[in-house]
Amino acid sequence: MSEQTKNIILIGFMGCGKTTVGLRLSYRLRMPVEDTDKLIEKNTGKSISEIFATDGEEQFRRMETELLESISRRNYPRIISVGGGTPVNPQNRVLLKKCGKVIYLRIRPETVFERLKTDTTRPLLQCEEPLAKIKQLLDDRIEAYEECADLIIDADELSVDDIVNIIENDI
Ligand code: S3P
Repeated sequence: MSEQTKNIILIGFMGCGKTTVGLRLSYRLRMPVEDTDKLIEKNTGKSISEIFATDGEEQFRRMETELLESISRRNYPRIISVGGGTPVNPQNRVLLKKCGKVIYLRIRPETVFERLKTDTTRPLLQCEEPLAKIKQLLDDRIEAYEECADLIIDADELSVDDIVNIIENDI
C-alpha cells in the first residue's frame, strides 16, 4: 500500500459532522487532520462567505480542485475533511479516490436543517427556504457522494464516538 492510500477522507453534506469526526479520529489514531475549507480560508485570508460574495462560487470551486490536486501529490498520511460540495465535480471525485480511503457521512435533510438552522457561515443556505434548498442539493449530490465512497455511514442517530468506532474498525 502506498503512503497516499493511507489518507482518510471524510465527505458528506454540510452539517454531517466531518470536522468534528475528523478531530476525534485524529486524536484516536494519532494522525494529523486537515479541513479543506480551513486551508482555503488560511491561503486566501478570507472566510468562505467572503470568497463566495467577492470571488463567486466558481472561483471557490477552482480553489477546492487546486487544493485537492496538491493534497493528492503529497505522500504523508492525514485525515482530511472536505467541503460538502467537493465531490460534485467528477475531477474532484477522481482526486479524492486518489488521495485515500473515502468515508461518506450520510445524513437526512431534516437533520441538516436542525443542525444548521441558525448557522450563518454556509452561503448556500442563506436563503428563504433553507430546508427546500438542502433537499434539492442533497438530491443533486447523493449519486456523487455514493459513487466515490469506500465506506458509507448513516450518521443521523450516531454519536461522534460511534462514528469513530465504525471507522476505526474498518481501516
Ligand atoms: C459547501 C459546503 C461547505 C463549504 C461551502 C460550500 C457546499 O463546507 O465548502 O460553504 O457546497 O456544500 P462544509 O460541508 O464543511 O460545511
